[in-house]
Amino acid sequence: MTAVCALELRRLNKSFGGMTVVKDLNLSVSAGERRAVIGPNGAGKTTLFNMISGWLQPSSGAISVGGKQVVTGRPDLLAREGLARSFQQNMLLNGLTVLENLRIASQALDASRRSLLRKCGSFDSVIALARAAGEQMHLGSVFDQRVQELSYGHKRQLEVAIALCGAPRILLLDEPAAGASPSERERLIGLLRGLPRSLTILLVEHDMDVVSAVCDKVTVMSYGEVLATGTIAEIRSNDRVRQAYLGGVSHA
Ligand SMILES: Nc1ncnc2c1ncn2[C@@H]1O[C@H](COP(=O)(O)OP(=O)(O)O)[C@@H](O)[C@H]1O
Ligand SMILES: [Mg+2]
Repeated sequence: MTAVCALELRRLNKSFGGMTVVKDLNLSVSAGERRAVIGPNGAGKTTLFNMISGWLQPSSGAISVGGKQVVTGRPDLLAREGLARSFQQNMLLNGLTVLENLRIASQALDASRRSLLRKCGSFDSVIALARAAGEQMHLGSVFDQRVQELSYGHKRQLEVAIALCGAPRILLLDEPAAGASPSERERLIGLLRGLPRSLTILLVEHDMDVVSAVCDKVTVMSYGEVLATGTIAEIRSNDRVRQAYLGGVSHA
């Protein structure tokens, strides 16, 4: 595969008050790559995702998507460039059904949503996209259930499906398996592995089973900086990583 850069971060920084939580961070992810971002709590992973997806304005630095530098701090513009994310905290509308949640997400991401003169038929494509995203995450059987009635595993699947509603080219997943039971986690792994290989995935995940099943490469963050990037085997045998992070956890 030619190494087209799907996502490139150059010297990205984020400070809150006097505290710098992401420091001069450089990252390149090739098109179609599945990259994990791991690191101890507080390493800056969610802050990084918030900046990449436009929810947080970087203090400085540049983000390029598909080789083109994008305006930072604008989730709408980044979504239009093909970037979607799931959230670590549950952002689902509990009183609505699964399909309604998906429909709202796909409508919000639809370029023609602001046109009052749109043809009624144009809503069909929004609903088709919502259904397709839900079916990709095997939610077809629960489309008419309210979110509050769903199992925890189905909720996590729905969060990923909502991110898929904009037919993204790059998908950012922040701990999609957090809190899931072993069987729910296995199902999620299978679904993530089944997504089209053209989709670039950036995954923040603590669970190394999920990382090794889904990702080709791992970037390790510590105190806002990249400590190492490599294959899972390389990362596991990297002394700096072992000292800073993996040394203290049993799955290393
Ligand atoms: N909005 C904020 N204001 C102040 N500090 C924040 C804010 N968001 C995150 N932080 C701090 O930034 C650091 C990195 O947090 P975070 O990105 O959530 O780490 P991770 O996802 O790796 O656990 C933490 O010390 C956290 O307390
Ligand atoms: Mg986090």
